[in-house]
Amino acid sequence: MEDEEGPEYGKPDFVLLDQVTMEDFMKNLKLRFEKGRIYTYIGEVLVSVNPYQELPLYGPEAIARYQGRELYERPPHLYAVANAAYRMMKRRSRDTCIVISGESGAGKTEASKHIMQYIAAVTNPSQRAEVERVKDVLLKSTCVLESFGNARTNRNHNSSRFGKYMDINFDFKGDPVGGHIHSYLLEKSRVLKQHVGERNFHAFYQVLRGCEDEELHALHLERNAALYNFTRQGAGLSTLESDEKSHHQAVTEAMLVIGFSSEEVGSVHRILAAILHLGNIEFEETEEGGPEQGTLAVTKEELVDYVAELTATPREMVLHCLLARTVASGGREVIEKGYTAAEASYARDACAKVFGVQQWGALGETEKALREEAGSEIARSRQALVCPQAMYQRLFEWVVNRINSVMETRGRDPRRDGKDTVIGVLDIYGFEVLPVNSFEQLCINYCNEKLQQLFIQLILKQEQEEYEREGITWQTVQYFNNASIVELVERPHRGVLAVLDEACSTAGTITDRIFLQTLDTHHRHHAHYTSRQLCPTDKTMEFGRDFRIKHYAGDVTYSVEGFIDKNRDSLFQDFKRLLYNSTDPTLRAMWPDGQQDITEVTKRPLTAGTLFKNSMVALVENLAVKEPFYIRCIKPNEDKVPARLDEAHCRHQVAYLGLLENVRVRRAGFASRQPYPRFLLRYKMTCEYTWPNHLLGSDRAAVSALLEQHGLQGDVAFGHTKLFIRSPRTLVTLEQSRARLIPIIVLLLQKAWRGTLARWRCRKLRAVYTIMRWFRRHKVRAHLAELQRRFQAARQPPHYGRDLVWPQAPTVLQPFQDTCHTLFSRWRARQLVKNIPPSDMAQIKAKVAAMVALQELRQEWGCRRAWARDYLSSATDNPTASGLFAQRLKTLQDKDGFKIVLFSSHVRKVNRFNKRRDRALLLTDRHLYKLEPGRQYRVMRAVPLDAVTGLSVTSGRDQLVVLHAKGQDDLVVCLHRSQPPLDNRVGELVGVLAAHCQGEGRKLEVRVSDCIPLRQRGNQRSVSVEARPEQPEPDFCCSHGTFTLLWPSP
Ligand SMILES: Nc1ncnc2c1ncn2[C@@H]1O[C@H](COP(=O)(O)OP(=O)(O)O)[C@@H](O)[C@H]1O
Ligand SMILES: [Mg+2]
Repeated sequence: MEDEEGPEYGKPDFVLLDQVTMEDFMKNLKLRFEKGRIYTYIGEVLVSVNPYQELPLYGPEAIARYQGRELYERPPHLYAVANAAYRMMKRRSRDTCIVISGESGAGKTEASKHIMQYIAAVTNPSQRAEVERVKDVLLKSTCVLESFGNARTNRNHNSSRFGKYMDINFDFKGDPVGGHIHSYLLEKSRVLKQHVGERNFHAFYQVLRGCEDEELHALHLERNAALYNFTRQGAGLSTLESDEKSHHQAVTEAMLVIGFSSEEVGSVHRILAAILHLGNIEFEETEEGGPEQGTLAVTKEELVDYVAELTATPREMVLHCLLARTVASGGREVIEKGYTAAEASYARDACAKVFGVQQWGALGETEKALREEAGSEIARSRQALVCPQAMYQRLFEWVVNRINSVMETRGRDPRRDGKDTVIGVLDIYGFEVLPVNSFEQLCINYCNEKLQQLFIQLILKQEQEEYEREGITWQTVQYFNNASIVELVERPHRGVLAVLDEACSTAGTITDRIFLQTLDTHHRHHAHYTSRQLCPTDKTMEFGRDFRIKHYAGDVTYSVEGFIDKNRDSLFQDFKRLLYNSTDPTLRAMWPDGQQDITEVTKRPLTAGTLFKNSMVALVENLAVKEPFYIRCIKPNEDKVPARLDEAHCRHQVAYLGLLENVRVRRAGFASRQPYPRFLLRYKMTCEYTWPNHLLGSDRAAVSALLEQHGLQGDVAFGHTKLFIRSPRTLVTLEQSRARLIPIIVLLLQKAWRGTLARWRCRKLRAVYTIMRWFRRHKVRAHLAELQRRFQAARQPPHYGRDLVWPQAPTVLQPFQDTCHTLFSRWRARQLVKNIPPSDMAQIKAKVAAMVALQELRQEWGCRRAWARDYLSSATDNPTASGLFAQRLKTLQDKDGFKIVLFSSHVRKVNRFNKRRDRALLLTDRHLYKLEPGRQYRVMRAVPLDAVTGLSVTSGRDQLVVLHAKGQDDLVVCLHRSQPPLDNRVGELVGVLAAHCQGEGRKLEVRVSDCIPLRQRGNQRSVSVEARPEQPEPDFCCSHGTFTLLWPSP
């Protein structure tokens, strides 16, 4: 709670105030209110200030923050109280109740809605359908009850005009399985009249503005609230028409969801319409008639038709009820009696009293006229006024009962389902002081006195019991006990209500005035009662009209006018019978007492006051057996403006709600109490003996050790199970040292947790590496096995695994595989070479040299032929002149001393003068010779072999060769006259020469090009090849200094 409730927000609990004075209390209340903290505790009592604005305090997220938490763990909130009540009920199987009190507009109804929402949100996690249904009805019932029971008043735009106590039944799992609503004292006079700026019950406007045109027509209504006496006063008050319409829809929908049938909803609308029509009926005096029929008549007869139609009753009966009454006069005799002028004037007076003398609206016009014409015979029917309120009240009660019948816990057997537990939520009208206070205000204020009495009793009783239970000595606290005021009102025989009943039951014309006199005689010595009679100097009261009660919440002056009338059930049996006999079953169900026979009516029904008193006694009895939780609502200002706290106004409420006494009582003995284990859990870190866990004999001993270490043992008392802390300062000291240690503990926890996280990660990584290692190993093994398998047949001659494909090696084995590849190639070469005879080795070397030199640029280079080299000495190749050539060789060998002939062949040459000749080419290990075959192979030119630098050939099949030598013209020749013809010998020439140069350690430059550049005596030329199929022998031609070899094959 510390982080959310820093010192800048004031004290979250008034118990923590340094001094309990009104000033400090108000300062804290104001500070918190200004910071948006509308809730503050007094122990377990929640003080709530109406913010008059939407605050971001509610909703699913907020609910989640409070769910399952202790009261002190989070900032004060309604949810925390709801949660505490719910947990108490669930944990200990105790029935609990939440009593919400405060003035009108202090936020009681809103609070009760938040509580319901909380309970709905945290229950039924398993989404059982039946429980969901009950929750739905519970939530939806609010909307319906508000429509029929709430109205706009000057103090609150959505003021509840009835008291509500709602029981929610829970099964052993803590899910709501049913509920019951009790309603108290509906302010039914509101049906007839409202103060300026106020309205009738919402339901009327909702029907007028929300019903579809068709339905409205059927109800004989028009969409204009100003046309009806009962709604005219509030018609002009700004409420958005669209709002009213959507509310109407919402209410109708809610009714259907709850389980009202559409016929019932229709009946409800018809009853509301009938009430509106009744309000518009006016009367006039007629001459005809006589004592039986009376002298009154209705002016607008169609209204009677409408009422008869809407209530499904015979028209004549309706008219009769309005104009006459049936009186049972002893035995079985029944007399019809019409209203006379005298009675009418009584009725008129009574009406005036019912309404007070204030606002009349349009009715007022008639009334004023009536008053002016003293003794006038025109009057309104008394029943015409009493009936509408009674009808509305019955309607409201029927709605409540209907909802109850749906929410009833059905078919539950405690032996099978476990015991039901209950949470009650009481949202009842607060203490009320109006300019003129009447019977209703007396009831309301009496109710508040009763609840205050209960509050005092329970809070004190609880404290006392706890101290006793824990074996602690208790000292009394002074507080104002309002028991005598309660007595004043409800005491049998002498109490205000008893005297009133007496006055009502007495035959004859007991007036309000006589009632007042009786009160004066009974209570002249009562400290909380006074009147003008008893205190003649007090001009704020009027003689013969006012009396004053000093309520716990302040003085209230009541005017006795209308008390007797309001107390008496003045509805005649005729009307009850009329509605009981309606053919509309819904309406009929609202009037079960109409069933009584006319002769039975003499039995007097209970008075309103007695009924109310009984219901209050029952309510208080019901609450007293439950574990109570209190929400005390405070209204910050009279103007309903947000963020303004009117100090004087609040001070008064704080005073009469007894909040200061509450704080004192709470602190008198001990500011705080906590069970030992919970105390240890919270503070054990502040002591070395208790942190992290104590080794002492009991929690109590551990707590004692802890307190001794802090030197606080003098300020506490040890109960059997709880520790009682006397001053808040001790609590604050403990809290502070706890707050100092929390960061260290947090660090410790963080350290441990971080270490754990790191260890987890490390272990995971290790596992990963192990897996990787094993996987690699597996891959290597698999690869080697595969190599082995594939290369099993590699030793097979003649190819020695020539066609074997190497498998794809894993990356790690790639270098190994490359090495293997090389080794294998070498081995294979060795295997191949091993079998070649030494005589063939020179040829092989030459072929290899040719292959390397030509670099695959020339496709055909006679690789597959046996290379004979010295073709001029061969009889097959040179049959006519091999002998001559042999002689020449011999001569040259003697002269130049070469060892071997590298190559010899006939060639066709072309020189720089474009002269073409047949010549022979001889290549020894020492020289390159150009010979003349025609003249016994005489040497035409000899070039030392080491001067030969390179060779150029083409990529085709032709036998063109250009020899390049240092300081010599390039020699351009085409090998020819071979056997077989056009044999491919260029590669052989290249190979032997390259192998020879390689042996001598010098490089021979071999170029492959289809247009070979030439150098001849400093001139740049070139030679290329042209295929000529018709050409018999290869030959050269020249054009523009470019040579072309004409090659015979295509
Ligand atoms: N917690 C709240 N947050 C916002 N507005 C509120 C809150 N409580 C009450 N109000 C406002 O005050 C008005 C009167 O509240 P309501 O609960 O009807 O008073 P009460 O039932 O005590 O007469 C509401 O209509 C609403 O506008
Ligand atoms: Mg209310």
